[in-house]
Amino acid sequence: MPFEVASTTVVEPRAAALSLNGPAKTMQTALAPVDSSLQLTAVDYIQCEDVYSLKGMAAHPVVMERGQGEFLWDTTGKRYIDFNAGFSSCNQGHCHPKIVKAMMEQCQVLALPSRSVHNANYALLCKKLCHLSGFDKVALLNGGAEAVDMAIKAARAWAYKVKGIAQDQCLVLTAEHNYHGRSLSLLSASNDAGYRKNCGPWMPNVGPYCTGAVIRFGVVEDLEKAFKTHGDRIAAYIVEPVQGHAGCIAASDEYLVAVRDLCNKYRILFIADEIQGGLGRAGSLFSYQSSGVKPDMVVLGKSLSGGLYPVSGIIGTEDAMSGLEAGQYGSTFSGNPIGSAVALAALDVIVDEDLPGRSRDLGAKFAARLEAIKSPYFDKITGKGLFRSMYIHETHPEGRVTGARLAALCLERGLLLNSAGRRLRICPALVIDEAIMLEGVDIIERALNDLSDMELP
Ligand SMILES: Cc1ncc(COP(=O)(O)O)c(C=O)c1O
Repeated sequence: MPFEVASTTVVEPRAAALSLNGPAKTMQTALAPVDSSLQLTAVDYIQCEDVYSLKGMAAHPVVMERGQGEFLWDTTGKRYIDFNAGFSSCNQGHCHPKIVKAMMEQCQVLALPSRSVHNANYALLCKKLCHLSGFDKVALLNGGAEAVDMAIKAARAWAYKVKGIAQDQCLVLTAEHNYHGRSLSLLSASNDAGYRKNCGPWMPNVGPYCTGAVIRFGVVEDLEKAFKTHGDRIAAYIVEPVQGHAGCIAASDEYLVAVRDLCNKYRILFIADEIQGGLGRAGSLFSYQSSGVKPDMVVLGKSLSGGLYPVSGIIGTEDAMSGLEAGQYGSTFSGNPIGSAVALAALDVIVDEDLPGRSRDLGAKFAARLEAIKSPYFDKITGKGLFRSMYIHETHPEGRVTGARLAALCLERGLLLNSAGRRLRICPALVIDEAIMLEGVDIIERALNDLSDMELP
């Protein structure tokens, strides 16, 4: 039985009918049906994107039209169990009614008075974040990368103003294989050759190699050595307590305790990037909480707004946040009434529906069921709570069992998940019904077993 992994040729292409290959047009023109009897299909939209958009990540050949809770529906009306949840932006599920309501109500009243005046939602959101986290100060931004960039900036300012490091000399360490975003400062702090390709020169004094030696994730000795030799110049160590992009690798609690102790000893800021692992995803409100330690600063994004509006931010202690001076923090859209109303509602849902507790309980069942998958190609699962990756052995002699083929077959059978090499990323919404979650794992198990009988295209 042949099986196509990522084909966009299942439906006959109609680029000509849509004049997609003609002279440059606005999206409106390109999408306008030339014949009113012509129904646009997924292929039309995908081709349209191919023509007009810069290439992003490789996407599944489906066009989603609707989302609710743990489900998505494509343009043909087919339903998918979503094991991606907007890359953990939709921990509360797609279009959570309480968050949608808060957004719609605020849209009709006030959208962007600008930060040259005050707005009530922003003030209340800052207060709520401080109360929930136990930190003292907040700076809200828009996307995740922007917030990590802000954390680096705040740490540098702290280093010069509070720690007394000589101007322009401070170092900000990150762990190898981190993912903090794709802006230039964060690629400077990354060792991902693919993302960095042709984008240099890089910002100096940041990253996993900026002391001249490597900072491996989870290796206390690397940090100890770097701090001992260069501690007087180091402003901060930024780390994801669970490295998502690297394959849902959770740092041990002992590692996080050691990071805290070392940062205290050398007066270095411990900054946790909780953009993906936080807000319940890994089984607690903040993923570092299992270790009992508290960082100096935390970076948030993604499900801080339940997938409805870009809202991110940093929260920290009075001391850690004291470096920047008035005017050094700002952005046109940050803290606007809509984003703040959305984030207030999104946080309420996380607390009221005990999403961290659901993630912990369901995550344990999820892990047990995934580990029980019977297939010679199943390798292991990693992660915490509902923040998981499943690894397979790509050892089929004809190469029939690969992560990409498995994800494609699952998609065909109504389960959306992403692969990266031999790894599947499986992060459903935290509101997912247990039976639906287990149905998703059944799809994975059956697909894994069927793949070896399916010829390559
Ligand atoms: C841990 C972590 N930090 C930062 C980011 C960047 O966030 P954004 O894509 O909103 O810029 C991500 C995104 O996946 C992430 O997982």
